Amino acid sequence: MVHGRYLVDMLRCFICLVALFEDHIGAQQNNVYFEKGESVILFCKVNATSWCTWDGPGVNGGEFSTFSDRMVIDQSLPNANRLMIIGNISLGEYNLQISNASNEDEGAYRCSIVDGAARQTHVFLQMKEQPSNISVNGANKGVRHGIEGRPLVLNCSVTSGIPDESILWYNGSVLLDIGGPGIFSMTIVPQRYDHDRIYTCIVNSSALRVPLKTSIMLDIKYKPVLTLNSDKPLRRLSNTDQIEIHIDEGHNLTISCSVDSNPPVLKVNFYRNLHQVKNVKSAHTLEFIGIKREDKGLYECRAKNEVDETYENVTVIVEYPPSIVITKYFENTGLQCSPEGKPQNYTFHPWLHHSELGDFIRQLDNNEIVRFKEVGINTQNYKWNGIYTCRAENGIKDVNGTLIQSGQVLVKQAGQNEFYSEVMEKFDDAGDIYSFVKCLFCKQ
Ligand SMILES: *[C@@H]1O[C@H](CO)[C@@H](O)[C@H](O)[C@H]1NC(C)=O
Ligand SMILES: *[C@@H]1O[C@H](CO)[C@@H](O)[C@H](O)[C@H]1NC(C)=O
Ligand SMILES: *[C@@H]1O[C@H](CO)[C@@H](O)[C@H](O)[C@H]1NC(C)=O
Ligand SMILES: *[C@@H]1O[C@H](CO)[C@@H](O)[C@H](O)[C@H]1NC(C)=O
Ligand SMILES: *[C@@H]1O[C@H](CO)[C@@H](O)[C@H](O)[C@H]1NC(C)=O
Ligand SMILES: *[C@@H]1O[C@H](CO)[C@@H](O)[C@H](O)[C@H]1NC(C)=O
Ligand SMILES: *[C@@H]1O[C@H](CO)[C@@H](O)[C@H](O)[C@H]1NC(C)=O
Ligand SMILES: *[C@@H]1O[C@H](CO)[C@@H](O)[C@H](O)[C@H]1NC(C)=O
Ligand SMILES: *[C@@H]1O[C@H](CO)[C@@H](O)[C@H](O)[C@H]1NC(C)=O
Ligand SMILES: *[C@@H]1O[C@H](CO)[C@@H](O)[C@H](O)[C@H]1NC(C)=O
Ligand SMILES: *[C@@H]1O[C@H](CO)[C@@H](O)[C@H](O)[C@H]1NC(C)=O
Repeated sequence: MVHGRYLVDMLRCFICLVALFEDHIGAQQNNVYFEKGESVILFCKVNATSWCTWDGPGVNGGEFSTFSDRMVIDQSLPNANRLMIIGNISLGEYNLQISNASNEDEGAYRCSIVDGAARQTHVFLQMKEQPSNISVNGANKGVRHGIEGRPLVLNCSVTSGIPDESILWYNGSVLLDIGGPGIFSMTIVPQRYDHDRIYTCIVNSSALRVPLKTSIMLDIKYKPVLTLNSDKPLRRLSNTDQIEIHIDEGHNLTISCSVDSNPPVLKVNFYRNLHQVKNVKSAHTLEFIGIKREDKGLYECRAKNEVDETYENVTVIVEYPPSIVITKYFENTGLQCSPEGKPQNYTFHPWLHHSELGDFIRQLDNNEIVRFKEVGINTQNYKWNGIYTCRAENGIKDVNGTLIQSGQVLVKQAGQNEFYSEVMEKFDDAGDIYSFVKCLFCKQ
């Protein structure tokens, strides 16, 4: 249990070796600390042919007075009964033992070798004192308040003891830094995830069998953190913070905005083009029943607390299948099919050519334009008369679940007498035709 530490001043003292014994760590340089009531042994070893004298502190803080000469203690000393020279004399050991040590024994001691020139070693004896009264400044009922991103000073202070204590700050179980004595002021820059975290200050000293300890909880205010959720997939565009929702027209859509904030938000609202959206199920939730193409746009969730206001945007893209518009192509040389949908990415299927009575004649090119000449139709000829159907899709189904949308036009050679109505009723048996029928080259 007892362990020693030799304090050797080899430069000044070749013969006399002073070492110190004590129960606990605490020896710093030539300072030795003891606990009240302990036995302290000050070691002095000389050549076997020589011997030591010990001097100790004089009464009332006076200069040195002689304590011992060889083995003999000066019996006139008030504490003579607590002093003793111990050790193996034949080995040159003249160790001074002080029993039941108290603050009266504090002070400077020296061991002097008597032969030849005076050579001595000094040691300073001090009684340990426990540090006490640990506290964290600025903590109210164990809670230290701060704001995210702003430096926060954590001061741990203590009434100092002897020897100097060290003060340690822990974040949970992680040691952050060591300081002291007296006060250790550590500055942290708390983030929102430091809210409710426990920081612990520990005061350690050899005078303490159990370190002093006090914990505080951080209460970190932070601006609202918004999270958008939807019953439809949210697409996060790479390289930006932008979020999109793609939804088919007619479907239902719910977008909610959840908030994490300390202190709680005063309000949460959705905005569109700077105007608060009225279509709200609750302040946190937008709901569209059968969304329309006009509902597209940028929606912004805003929340505010006393720290700051934050925003989160979502762009709603309403997709719908194309309506098919057919117009005359350059100089009546053909037909141009112009779908209008969202997205504007169309796949064309072959045009269909039927007779006016609905008999199938032929299938033509699968692109936007039909050129009569190219398909071998002579404009002087009746052969190109009939109903032309353009079919296209953009990947979006209509309300009936049909992907391919179509439109028709009736073409008649100019000069013929018959006149057909501008708009025809449904042509296709499938019944999924978004019809647009027009008579081109009809007799005016
Ligand atoms: C002890 O004495 C011997 C001879 O007397 C000498 O050689 C030696 O250096 C001395 N040791 C110390 C530590 O002074
Ligand atoms: C002192 O040391 C000597 C030499 O090591 C040894 O022979 C002797 O027994 C020791 N005496 C005591 C009392 O320990
Ligand atoms: C130790 O010293 C104290 C005074 O410092 C005294 O009251 C006590 O009786 C002493 N104990 C012993 C065992 O001598
Ligand atoms: C403890 O410390 C507080 C402030 O640091 C001080 O007001 C108080 O007097 C101290 N108490 C003791 C017993 O030292
Ligand atoms: C922390 O201690 C330093 C001195 O070390 C003092 O200047 C500062 O005001 C203290 N801060 C708080 C919050 O107690
Ligand atoms: C505290 O510890 C946690 C987890 O180890 C860490 O995420 C956080 O950044 C630490 N805070 C500070 C202010 O060091
Ligand atoms: C407290 O200090 C002692 C020595 O003074 C050391 O052994 C111990 O590891 C320290 N404890 C902590 C928690 O630092
Ligand atoms: C859309 O919402 C309405 C009203 O809540 C509901 O009647 C309808 O079934 C929903 N449609 C879909 C496709 O979920
Ligand atoms: C949200 O949109 C508004 C209006 O366009 C814009 O001012 C704001 O910067 C956007 N916020 C984010 C986080 O993109
Ligand atoms: C257009 O649609 C095709 C097939 O649906 C798809 O492979 C392609 O990626 C789309 N292009 C764009 C730019 O959306
Ligand atoms: C869907 O089908 C219904 C019933 O057949 C029809 O009345 C309606 O026009 C169709 N809608 C479209 C866009 O084709």
